[in-house]
Amino acid sequence: MNKTPNTFPVPKAFAAKAHVDQQGYEKLYRESVEDPEGFWARQANEILHWQKPWDKVLSWDFKAPSVRWFEGGVINVSENCLDRHLTARGDKPAIVWEGNEPGETRTVTYRQLHAEVCRMAGLLRHLGVKKGDRVAIYLPMVPEAAAAMLACARIGAIHTVVFAGFSAEALRDRINDCGCSVLITANEGLRGGKRVPLKETCDEALAECPSVRKVLVVRRTDGETAMQAGRDLWLDQALRELPASANSAPEPMGSEDPLFILYTSGSTGKPKGVLHTTAGYLLHVSLTHRMVFDLKEEDVFFCGADVGWVTGHSYVVYGPLSNGATSVMFESIPTYPDAGRYWDVVERHKVSIFYTAPTAIRALAKEGDGWVKKYDRSSLRILGTVGEPINADAWLWYHNIVGEGRCPIVDTWWQTETGGVLISPLPGATATKPGSATKPLFGVQPVIVDDEGKEVLGNGVSGRLCIKFPWPGMMRTVYGDHERFRQTYFAMYPGLYFTGDGCRRDEDGYYWITGRVDDVLNVAGHRLGTAEVESAIVRSGLVAEAAVVGIPHEIKGQGIGAFCVLRDSVSSDASTIKGILHTVREVISPIAAPDAVWFVSGLPKTRSGKIMRRILRKVGEGEYESVGDVTTLADPAVVSEIVETVKSSRAG
Ligand code: WT7
Repeated sequence: MNKTPNTFPVPKAFAAKAHVDQQGYEKLYRESVEDPEGFWARQANEILHWQKPWDKVLSWDFKAPSVRWFEGGVINVSENCLDRHLTARGDKPAIVWEGNEPGETRTVTYRQLHAEVCRMAGLLRHLGVKKGDRVAIYLPMVPEAAAAMLACARIGAIHTVVFAGFSAEALRDRINDCGCSVLITANEGLRGGKRVPLKETCDEALAECPSVRKVLVVRRTDGETAMQAGRDLWLDQALRELPASANSAPEPMGSEDPLFILYTSGSTGKPKGVLHTTAGYLLHVSLTHRMVFDLKEEDVFFCGADVGWVTGHSYVVYGPLSNGATSVMFESIPTYPDAGRYWDVVERHKVSIFYTAPTAIRALAKEGDGWVKKYDRSSLRILGTVGEPINADAWLWYHNIVGEGRCPIVDTWWQTETGGVLISPLPGATATKPGSATKPLFGVQPVIVDDEGKEVLGNGVSGRLCIKFPWPGMMRTVYGDHERFRQTYFAMYPGLYFTGDGCRRDEDGYYWITGRVDDVLNVAGHRLGTAEVESAIVRSGLVAEAAVVGIPHEIKGQGIGAFCVLRDSVSSDASTIKGILHTVREVISPIAAPDAVWFVSGLPKTRSGKIMRRILRKVGEGEYESVGDVTTLADPAVVSEIVETVKSSRAG
């Protein structure tokens, strides 16, 4: 049964042309851990353009915690992503936009993007936005989203991009947490067959956001929206009316000045504002984008992630543009108008590097090979996956069908917190195994610890994944709550950064991420906290108490199972389920809606009142007989009721 998974060697012809081959990887990796400061200083010199060099490469202390890279250096991210490419790459496409409808495209060259960003930067300054101010971005996948991010970076404003699928409440909470003064949105978004009333959602959110003074509205459709006088401006009109003399010079930014805040879910409480800073983040995403995807000048790079997630920040915008690459920006969804859309995009734009999530791969594999084979994929060189563990079947389908067996797959492990990829094969250097993220990238020092926090050495071991040395792209704090930063990542295993993931290191030293070991769910590659979903469920007014767990889901990888104790006099029927789902969609987003709702009379709790999630997880996974010890429960009888409820819901 325990068959060793196949290993896929690096294609020889590939290794010959790659930035690094196997020996190169080993040599550079060794250098990067033996002399991290020397390694990163050299990379920072070679890869980035500095207005002023740094004084000190690194100072760090994981106890405080405090991490500072390239202090004393002065650098601007937008200058690195745009200005410095103008001479050699002015007419090269920076962004190839594929809109919601097939063939609705727009190409923005480096020169054009630079001009657009400069105008937008000038406009923001004209509206009074200064270095350090926060600007919220709530946009669909349109070039203006990238331009808005870069315009913020240009003037030193801290952007916080909120995924345009989030609800008004979620948007409101994020804006208020970091006190944004400006919001950039669109009148409407288009996603598949649907129109999304973005500006309306903003208006609802802004009713409770006192800090927002101005709203810039991108005209994405011909849809009407009410414009509030004195607050709302159409972006195109505001740009036309902006004096030509507006100041668009790149702001001199200190290496450790904040670049952006991105909210992500944790195991407790509200989403936290992950703060990334300037130089280290840019260096990390630039180097990883170049190495992991073996980037060449002529490549056309496609990353299917939305800019509302970190993958969109690092590998649609900052990584590719800092490298002067062509980045394809995709507004639609993989199944619109049909399951061939991705491959249609690959054929028409001659995509050479293609990066998506396992959930999309599984969904498309299910539709059959015909959709893929209908299109010419000969431009493809490398395939990437990110966001959750990829099962061997999906990996093999991606490799054999999409990549015609000739494209190396890079399974990239990282997190919002890490800024960029930390564990991944290098296509010219690392033999791959389906389901393994393989080896640490340069400068990354992973360790596996046991339950007591002791490092487990050697190969053929498993435990929890920690990192023991800082890397340039790591988050610096939770915005406005440094203590939460310490508690969440550095308190569990003193001296180590704790990832929240379980992990195995096999006999060959390959890393296999086994999924979250905390109360974080990964639903279709989207990260959600159990506490967050539970409190949304209770907000329905129908439920007295709820506990949610991850359940196996064929396409999403993980779905959400919700155990609900109803309030007195609420009936356990379909309309109650509907009410619960509706509330979760409104409070968080449709992505957080439970896949199964089970009504129970009580939750399994210890005598001190703590919910025993372990039991619920087992039941949710269908392991009814192995729920483990229930003797410490206040009322062990609830377990059999729960098992029966779940079993019978699945029998039907
Ligand atoms: C969590 C981070 C990093 C961008 C997208 C998600 C899981 C991510 C992989 C992978 C197995 C993965 C982990 C991680 N994850 N990539 N290649 N293999 N698991 O960012 O929303 O911050 O989620 O996603 O569990 O902790 P995120």
